[in-house]
Amino acid sequence: MNPSIIDLPKILDKRGNLSFFEHPGQLPFEIARTYWIYDVPGGEVRGSHAFKKQQEFIIALSGSFDVVLNDGEKEERFSLNRSYYGLYIPNMYWRKLENFSTNSLALIVSDRLYDEGDYIRDFEQFKNIKNAI
Ligand code: TYD
Repeated sequence: MNPSIIDLPKILDKRGNLSFFEHPGQLPFEIARTYWIYDVPGGEVRGSHAFKKQQEFIIALSGSFDVVLNDGEKEERFSLNRSYYGLYIPNMYWRKLENFSTNSLALIVSDRLYDEGDYIRDFEQFKNIKNAI
């Protein structure tokens, strides 16, 4: 599966709207971990790395930010700014999060527990591994 925007159900209600995701309904993987990124100072960039195995789904629960993906050859930018869709990122994509708005909240779910050994933090190393696949 390629990186893709996944639209989530939107339960419209005068009392306030509700959205959700679950596996296998919306997500292509079972969730093992949830984390979030918040209080990002203006101009900061998070997450310049790739994962060997981990897949992720990222939602802008509040505010907006961009996710920039690189497959080793070309770059693609996804702007996330609504809480009723998110970006699915397969393993082996270099990804960074940038252009955070004030008070933005990035929710990230992953199919794996935290494992520093799954990170590729060097872009040249990432390209070498990706091109060898
Ligand atoms: P990191 O994934 O490098 O942050 P980002 O990709 O957003 O720039 O994580 C920063 C640190 O936080 C990392 O060194 C260890 C810790 N951490 C955990 O302990 N558990 C987690 O689930 C995550 C995502 C990070």
